Amino acid sequence: AAVKKYQFNIQVTNVSRLCHAKPIVTVNGMFPGPTIYVREGDRVLVNVTNSAQYNMSIHWHGLKQYRNGWADGPAYITQCPIKTGNSYVYDFNVTGQRGTLWWHAHIFWLRATVYGAIVIMPKQGTPLPFPQPEREETILLGEWWNNDVEELVNQGNKLGLPPNMSDAHTINGKPGPLFPCSDKHTFAMEVEQGKTYLLRIINAALNDELFFAIAGHNLIVVEVDAMYTKPFTTQAILIAPGQTTNVLVQASQVPSRYFMAARPFMDAPLSIDNKTATAILQYKGIPNTVLPILPQLPAPNDTNFALSYNAKIRSLNSPQFPANVPLKVDRHLFYTIGLGINPCPTCLNGTQLTASLNNITFVMPQIGLLQAHYFNIKGVFRTDFPDRPPTPFNYTGAPLTANLGTTLGTRLSKIAFNSTVELVLQDTNLLSVESHPFHLHGYNFFVVGAGVGNFNPSKDPAKFNLVDPPERNTVGVPTGGWTAIRFRADNPGVWFMHCHLELHTSWGLKTAFVVENGKGADQSVLPPPKDLPLC
Ligand code: C2O
Repeated sequence: AAVKKYQFNIQVTNVSRLCHAKPIVTVNGMFPGPTIYVREGDRVLVNVTNSAQYNMSIHWHGLKQYRNGWADGPAYITQCPIKTGNSYVYDFNVTGQRGTLWWHAHIFWLRATVYGAIVIMPKQGTPLPFPQPEREETILLGEWWNNDVEELVNQGNKLGLPPNMSDAHTINGKPGPLFPCSDKHTFAMEVEQGKTYLLRIINAALNDELFFAIAGHNLIVVEVDAMYTKPFTTQAILIAPGQTTNVLVQASQVPSRYFMAARPFMDAPLSIDNKTATAILQYKGIPNTVLPILPQLPAPNDTNFALSYNAKIRSLNSPQFPANVPLKVDRHLFYTIGLGINPCPTCLNGTQLTASLNNITFVMPQIGLLQAHYFNIKGVFRTDFPDRPPTPFNYTGAPLTANLGTTLGTRLSKIAFNSTVELVLQDTNLLSVESHPFHLHGYNFFVVGAGVGNFNPSKDPAKFNLVDPPERNTVGVPTGGWTAIRFRADNPGVWFMHCHLELHTSWGLKTAFVVENGKGADQSVLPPPKDLPLC
C-alpha cells in the first residue's frame, strides 16, 4: 500500500459560464476540482489550505472512515470548519472499498462548486468482474447558478422560501451547446468504433435527481456507490445527488457525434425544471460540424421508470464480493420524512419551509458532535431521537396540514456497537410527496426493500430481498413511498444522515447516529488528530 498526498488550495477563481463571469470557490482553481486516484489499501493525506473568505470543510462521500470520523468532514458534525488562513490534513485509509466515489464541500451550499471525483482502483492483481474497458472517463453532473449561491440562499431564508433554482445543469462543469455562450463549454469524449468504455458517473448536483442517457447507445450498469452490481442494460440511468453509477458503453454505432444528456427527475408537483445538460460522445475522425443526435430521456415525472430502474439494481454477490446482508435485526427504526411549515419570526411572512424526521427538525450544534461525544462534553446534543414517529398517521394520504409544526432539536439516536439496524424511511404527504435521496456517513447499507404508499410492518418485510440487495451509501426514498435499509453498526463514532438535496438538508432533513465503542482494543474511535479545527 502507498501513501498518496494531495494539496487542496481553497481559493476564489473567476469562471465564466452562460455568457458571464463570476468568482466561485474552487480547489486549486479547478472547476470541477481535481480527481483523487488511489488504490484499495492506500493511505491518503489531503492537506486542505483555506485561502477563501468562507469557512470550509471537505467530505469524502462514501468512504467509510473506520473509527476515524475526524476525517469525514461534515461541518459541526465531525469537525469545526477550517477557517480562512488555516489548514487541516484529512488523513485516512481506503480499506475494503474500490470503485467510484466523490468528495465535496460539506458546509452551507459550497458544494455547488467545490466537488470532484474519487477513483479507487482495486488491489493489484484483483481483476474487474467485467471486461476491461479500453479507457475510462469521469462524468460529474452538476448545477450552475449565474448568481452567488450563498447570497441566494440567504435571501431565500429571509423570505422563508427556497432560493431560485440553478440556471443550468452541467456535465464536467460544462452546460453544453443547448445553453447560451456554451459551445466552448461543452465536454466531449472521443471513442473508437468497436471499443468499450467505462463511465464513472457522479451526481454532484445540489437539488436534482437526474436522468442520464447517450443517444443510440445502451448503458450497462456494473457498479453503484463503489459496489459491484449484477450487470444490466438500460437506455437511461437515474442518479440521485450523492450517488455514483459506473456504466460500460460500447461504441458500436455508426461513427458520428452523439449527445450525452442529463435532465432532472421532477416528481414534486410544484417544481418544473427542464434544463438539459449535454456533452458529446465523439467517434474518432468525425468532424465537429456534424450535428449530434439527442437521446430520449424518461419524462420528467416518470415515477414508474424510477421505481423499475431502482428495482433492477442488485449486488453482484459473487464468492469474491459477497453481499453480507444482516439477516437478524437488533434494532428497528422507522423515520418519517416531513416537509412542512414552521413559524419564523425573522422571516418576512412569519413562516418558513421546514423539514423533519419523526417531526424533529435538526438544529446544527455550535461545536463538532464527534468532539462532544469523544470528550464527553455535555449539553451539545441529546441521544433521545425517537425510534418511531410520535403518532402514527396515514403517511401518504391527504395532506395533513394539522401536522405541520415540528420540534427543533439536536437529537441523535444511540446505537450499540456491532448491532444490526433496520431503518425504514417513510415519505409523507404533509405538504407534498417527493423522492428524497438519503445518505448515511460512515457506512454502506443494504437496500432490502422499497414500495409505494405506507410501509406495512406485517406484510412488507416478507418481500425483502435478503440475498442480493444493492449495497449503497445513498438511496432514493420513492415519491410517496418507503425504503428499508439494513446495516451492521460496526463503525464507532458520530455519523451524519441526511437528505442529499441541499435544500432539504438546510431545512433540517438530517440527523446523526452515535455508534458506541466496542469492547475490543480496536473497536473505539481513534484519538483526534492534532490539527483538528476547533470552533
Ligand atoms: Cu455527500 Cu453528508 O454528504
